[in-house]
Amino acid sequence: MKRLTLLLGALLLTAAALAQTAVPPTVRIAHGPYVLNVTEDGFTVVWDAKADAIGWVELAPMDGSHFYSAERPRYYDSHLGLCRVGRMHRVRIEGLQPGTTYRYRIMQRGIVLNEGNRRVILDDGDGSEVYRRKPYTIRTLDPAQEKVDFWMVNDIHARDSVFQLLIKEAPEAQPDFVCLNGDLASQTETEQTLWDACLGSASKILTPAGIPLAVTRGNHENRGAYAQHWLDYFPTPTGETYYTFRRGPAFFIVLDGCEDKPDNDPRYYGMGDWNEYRRQQAEWLKGVVNSDEFRAAPVRIVLMHMIPGKEDSWYGEQQIRRLFIPELAGKGIDLMLCGHYHRYHWIDDGSRGVDFPILVNSNNDCLRVSADAKGIDLKVVNTAGAVIKQHRIDKKNK
Ligand SMILES: [Fe+2]
Repeated sequence: MKRLTLLLGALLLTAAALAQTAVPPTVRIAHGPYVLNVTEDGFTVVWDAKADAIGWVELAPMDGSHFYSAERPRYYDSHLGLCRVGRMHRVRIEGLQPGTTYRYRIMQRGIVLNEGNRRVILDDGDGSEVYRRKPYTIRTLDPAQEKVDFWMVNDIHARDSVFQLLIKEAPEAQPDFVCLNGDLASQTETEQTLWDACLGSASKILTPAGIPLAVTRGNHENRGAYAQHWLDYFPTPTGETYYTFRRGPAFFIVLDGCEDKPDNDPRYYGMGDWNEYRRQQAEWLKGVVNSDEFRAAPVRIVLMHMIPGKEDSWYGEQQIRRLFIPELAGKGIDLMLCGHYHRYHWIDDGSRGVDFPILVNSNNDCLRVSADAKGIDLKVVNTAGAVIKQHRIDKKNK
């Protein structure tokens, strides 16, 4: 009898253990979200799940109603009409009104079981909080906005504590966006790298304040086993790392200078094809600077991590000068903003073959820019919040 009881007990324990392992825990949101590519009619939301899931965004107007007062429209992370299964999620919301603030939440359901066409079972889901805390908000672009304010940090190289100091005043100052101008980390080895480098903090500090990001790819973003996933984090309107956007009076051209050494340098292990990528960009750039949108903009700013070089500069900088500068010089560019040198430079002596100033921001300061049709004000602010350099570009003198 005793042996039978022990046997039954063992069987029950095994059954309980099996029951526990049969239902995996709900997949939680790991990091994010942050917002990119804000336009007059839409925006893109990006986040990361702890395991494979499908994802969507729910949207609500600012009409005073509780988020739970109605079934909100869903915008899925889908491709070719099929919900994407994975950890990184990116959702484009479109069809919105210009100059309008919207509330949104991110939602996901983890994959409990995926037996293909036999059956797929999803978990109960996880989402950003809208019951105890306010939902996230974002404002679409207002075409009548006459001034743009933005901040730029670069070359963080995974020094997240420095990044936090540089952007901590943003929720109060409310810039239109924060530009991460390359070298977020030194190499991207895993899915976690960029979140740890600064994206986790960007999500925590900027997203609740309704501040989106604009991101350029630095030369270090080409390095590491996970480097190929850059566009999973930062999708662009072109599907490339180079693109344009408009914000207030300013037209922005985002360029990718690629790597700094020749493609065949041993450090790149035979994996680089950046000569060709820069050549493609130069072709694309010809069309951009001849477009009506570019010509009609009162202010024109180029964002690029690397810098057009001098004759004795490293290879990548020389190629930027050879391929990009002929398309930019004489076209009415007001300013180029770069990183890469890890030191501040104000270059307006024509030594880089351009007819516009280049501000190279250090790796320890935040550049704060205000631009309108009359001119551009630039302030370099250190981690203590002190203005250590300033410039004024007066459009009337151009
Ligand atoms: Fe750097």
